[in-house]
Amino acid sequence: MSETPRLLRALAGETLDRPPIWFMRQAGRSLPEYRELRTRAKDFMAFCFNPEMAAEATLQPMRRFPMDGAIVFADILLLPQALGQEVWFEAGEGPRLGALPPIQALRDAVEGSTVKLANIGETLSRVRAELESDRALIGFAGAPWTVATYMIEGRGSQREAARTYAYQHPEALDALLDVLVDSTARYLVMQARAGAQALKLFESWAENLAEDVFERIVVGPHTRIVQQVRAAGVDVPFIGFPRGCGALVENYAAKVPVQGVALDTQASFAMGRRIQADGKTIQGALDNLLLRAGGPALDARVDALLEAWGQGPYIFNLGHGVIPDTPLEHIAQVVARVTGKPVTRMAAA
Ligand code: CP3
Repeated sequence: MSETPRLLRALAGETLDRPPIWFMRQAGRSLPEYRELRTRAKDFMAFCFNPEMAAEATLQPMRRFPMDGAIVFADILLLPQALGQEVWFEAGEGPRLGALPPIQALRDAVEGSTVKLANIGETLSRVRAELESDRALIGFAGAPWTVATYMIEGRGSQREAARTYAYQHPEALDALLDVLVDSTARYLVMQARAGAQALKLFESWAENLAEDVFERIVVGPHTRIVQQVRAAGVDVPFIGFPRGCGALVENYAAKVPVQGVALDTQASFAMGRRIQADGKTIQGALDNLLLRAGGPALDARVDALLEAWGQGPYIFNLGHGVIPDTPLEHIAQVVARVTGKPVTRMAAA
């Protein structure tokens, strides 16, 4: 018997007896079996483009914990590579990108970019074939502004050069965002057709934007992506995550046609409830540092979140991704508390 996954019911607006749970960066370095698998890949990009290994990394946390959602193992920086900008990862330092190609070259690369990302579709199909029917598979992409910050600066940073570029070269930025809107929409359509049942847009660097700039470079591009995906006949729910934008997340929730809005750690209970009352599902917002710290404060915060937001459509998650040295017992502690069932299967097998 197949059951509609709890995560999809929540995204359809249902308030459930207990919220679904999954964690950003649940696949990855907090798991010893991930670290072992990682040693077998030439580098991180090769890992992401290997469907067998990426499917295995996606499923690893699903075997350990009764998570309601699996997020495909990939990265937001695969897209710039598919558009012709070189991307690599320096060990211990993070991403590096080659020179930003001319806008016309990027535009010409949009049509072929989805084919270059076909292996991510293959990963999704493999995971969907193995995952139980009551657990949802989540596809994702970086949101245009966040991806643009890496493309402009060539690395992760405080985003000051990218924000300066947005002011000094508004037309060039808008042209770059347009290329990213079109290529991201195509990529997400491909992911949905390959088996993704929900799609998440990661706008990790939505902080420090004035309201008008936020509207132009976050709200507008996200809205156009959802519209383009719908125009292609794909109706899977969207989760938008404009991380760090403070009170502007209410503007986002009111304007962007996503079904779910992911909230970061600083979001107030009252604000979350207003977004629910406006008809959106919310997701979040446990501090990833508290998850790592553990103890009674962790239990207390989990209870407070369930109490504050569990009376409306809600997906339990973190405010940002799992930190690599987070003790797995703490993840088990939270999952048990939210699901009401002890996590017995702590073995990696
Ligand atoms: O479990 C999951 O969440 C699925 C996989 C996933 C990864 N990256 C794997 C990864 C997802 C959803 C992402 C998204 C991502 N990637 C974001 C948005 C979310 C966020 O955390 O804000 C961003 C900004 C990136 C870009 C990126 N990728 C950076 C800055 C880094 C280096 C810093 C770091 O954490 O190492 C990565 C590398 C990366 N992406 C790793 C993993 C598991 C670590 C690489 C390794 O194993 O060597």
